[in-house]
Amino acid sequence: MNRKQLIKKYLEFFESKGHKIIPNASLIPKDDPTVLFTTAGMHPLTPYLLGQKHPLGKRLVNVQKCIRTTDIEEVGNKTHHTFFEMLGNWSLGDYWKKDAIEYSFEFLTKVLKINPKKISITCFIGDKDAKKDTESSDIWKSIGIKKIKFLGKKDNWWGPAGKTGPCGPDSEMFIDGIEIWNDVFMQYNKTKKGKYESLKQKNVDTGLGVERTLVIPNNLKDNYLTETFLPIIKKIEQLSGKKYKENEKAMRIIADHIKASVFIIADGVLPSNTEQGYVLRRLIRRAIRYGRELGIKDFTSKVAQPVFEIYDDYEELKDNLKNVYIFKTLKEEEGKFNLTLEKGLNVMKKEFFNKAIGRIDPENPPKGMVIEGNKLRIKGEKVFYFSQSFGFPLELTQEIMKEWGVEFDKQTMKEAQKAFQTHQKLSRTASRGVFGSGLADHSEQTTKLHTATHLLNQALREVLNKNIMQKGSNITPERLRFDFNFPRKLTEKEIKKVEDLVNKKISQRLKVTNEEMPLKKALASGISSEFNAKYPDIVSVYNIGDFSKEICTGPHVKNTNEIKKFKIIKEESSAAGIRRIKAVVG
Ligand code: ALA
Repeated sequence: MNRKQLIKKYLEFFESKGHKIIPNASLIPKDDPTVLFTTAGMHPLTPYLLGQKHPLGKRLVNVQKCIRTTDIEEVGNKTHHTFFEMLGNWSLGDYWKKDAIEYSFEFLTKVLKINPKKISITCFIGDKDAKKDTESSDIWKSIGIKKIKFLGKKDNWWGPAGKTGPCGPDSEMFIDGIEIWNDVFMQYNKTKKGKYESLKQKNVDTGLGVERTLVIPNNLKDNYLTETFLPIIKKIEQLSGKKYKENEKAMRIIADHIKASVFIIADGVLPSNTEQGYVLRRLIRRAIRYGRELGIKDFTSKVAQPVFEIYDDYEELKDNLKNVYIFKTLKEEEGKFNLTLEKGLNVMKKEFFNKAIGRIDPENPPKGMVIEGNKLRIKGEKVFYFSQSFGFPLELTQEIMKEWGVEFDKQTMKEAQKAFQTHQKLSRTASRGVFGSGLADHSEQTTKLHTATHLLNQALREVLNKNIMQKGSNITPERLRFDFNFPRKLTEKEIKKVEDLVNKKISQRLKVTNEEMPLKKALASGISSEFNAKYPDIVSVYNIGDFSKEICTGPHVKNTNEIKKFKIIKEESSAAGIRRIKAVVG
């Protein structure tokens, strides 16, 4: 059975049980700031699990691409992946444990023809939040399963995917000791306070891993030998002239990470230092690092090629122009990292090596290292410095230190993490300061003018056209000045309309609120930004009621009624195609 057949059989099986197929969603969750990636098929369904009505009904099924990076260190073994496909079926307040378990069992034994004796099960043992799940174990027993174990929350509870949301006890199915399918009984909502509240409805959420399942009917020993990986592994063998058998870990990591990178880039992410972009960068760089172990260079885009053939049923990998862009992104990141590595290694040698002897002198430890007992240890602050200045992943420094006989232990890791946290706090504060829209002082008056600028910006968009963008802004305690793209002089009527709209919003006492989000997300959702401005990867967005949404660092009034009154005092040309408005408030 191949991948496409497995997916088809699953979808058809659940269609025959009254399920409707839903699309395979983007890896970047929409409207869900609690997670960076879609980590399970249930993600796009969160509102429906919470009780909203789904347009396709109460029984759904699909195959969903997922990214999970919490287990990134485990990638390299037979069964863990950062990218994988998950088959799932859902009951949104419809069927419950009996049907869910019986469907799973029927699919495993009748469609995949797995011997029931090979199946073992785990169920939730019960705790203060939910009782022991004997309901599930009784159902399993009634259909002839004997190997049933009860485990705690760590193993037999799934969700929420982020900090809050739908979750519940689960029952997991193992074949030959490997977990392949999880039936989650989502009847709780975890709140911000960590409480488990009962949901409006009892849902079933299941997940069956495509790669792991394919191993079974094909009698394979390793997910990487299924057709979802084999062509990539073969490509790596060919490029390196080495055998998979002798280089399993490195080849698995490269294959997994490059595949994941292709899909992440295809969904619109570029390597960067924050959020999804940072995960992508880590994946590419980790693959490159293992490539070094195999002695291959400039390989990422070549290893990516078979990914497009394996997954030729994905629309997002079919566009030639886009594919060229994916290869280019990988190549560029690899080029950057190679330069970085060379530079960093040279600096490391310069800093650590004793010139006279051409290596580290353990008698006179260099700066950034300490002698502990009879060992020389690198300090975490130094590791952090190499990560910041040269993009060295911690593991890379660790590897180099090993080569040089220098300890890199738990204490080093702890110090490095602390340095990283301190840095994060500082850079957030700094970016707030730098991207402050040119505000010279934060007095009450300029704060009002600043919020009025946002209202004006939106009013112009509504009165003139929605393509208006800020081309410049300047605020003094006396007035605001706002430049924007528009081809002609505004009429008296238009000026009056704009003014009236701003004043209407002031009198509506709209609340001004602020949230932080990735820049990409802000731009993608059409939030106003300044033309050609350079923003950090995480931006703060100010909302004025439902009227205006703008990337900005404030400060702003809390409620528009504080502005009192808005008046345009001048409308003039600023440059070709750019108009300028001056206005006062109060
Ligand atoms: N959401 C469940 C899981 O990912 C099915 O295991």
